[in-house]
Amino acid sequence: EEESGKVVDYVVKVVLVGDSAVGKSQLLKRFALNEFSPDSRATIGVEFQTRTFIVDGKTVKAQIWDTAGQERYRAVTNAYYRCALGALLVYDITREHTFENLSKWLDELRLHADANIVVMLVGNKCDLNNIRAIPTEYAKTYAENEGLFFLETSALDATNVENAFSTILIEIY
Ligand code: GTP
Ligand code: MG
Repeated sequence: EEESGKVVDYVVKVVLVGDSAVGKSQLLKRFALNEFSPDSRATIGVEFQTRTFIVDGKTVKAQIWDTAGQERYRAVTNAYYRCALGALLVYDITREHTFENLSKWLDELRLHADANIVVMLVGNKCDLNNIRAIPTEYAKTYAENEGLFFLETSALDATNVENAFSTILIEIY
């Protein structure tokens, strides 16, 4: 496979999961295009973006898949998780029920994804710290108990977005 004239050594599939409106699509937009839309629409079906990196002299193409948090817009689950090496499990730090639903998303990941998938718990919208509902320490403890990496991000101001994706990609290799 070729990417702007360079041979791609590896393609790494990473999936985004979590409730509707937690900011999955905007995290992806920030990571892939360094853009953000305040008027983002709910995702219908599956979309993806790619970004290519050099890691240890190898060209790695990250292929990030994004689907709907809303049940009625979700695509076939098996196909979505197939061959995924990493996942960003996203909640919104200002909405408690998006955190409470994490166990549901983890069950789905454990049911459909590879047992060795690298999972990063992401508390998004940390720019809205003034209306925070989930304390950082609380989420950190949850992540430790579940064996997940953890970061708080903001797709709006770009805090930790690069870090969240690159930690997963580094952990995979
Ligand atoms: P579904 O596609 O329905 O699953 O939702 P989603 O998780 O993809 O959410 P999306 O990225 O569409 O963002 C939902 C809303 O939150 C939009 O209005 C975004 O502009 C807003 N949003 C996303 N990320 C952030 C963030 O980091 N900070 C703030 N303040 N708003 C954000
Ligand atoms: Mg979306």
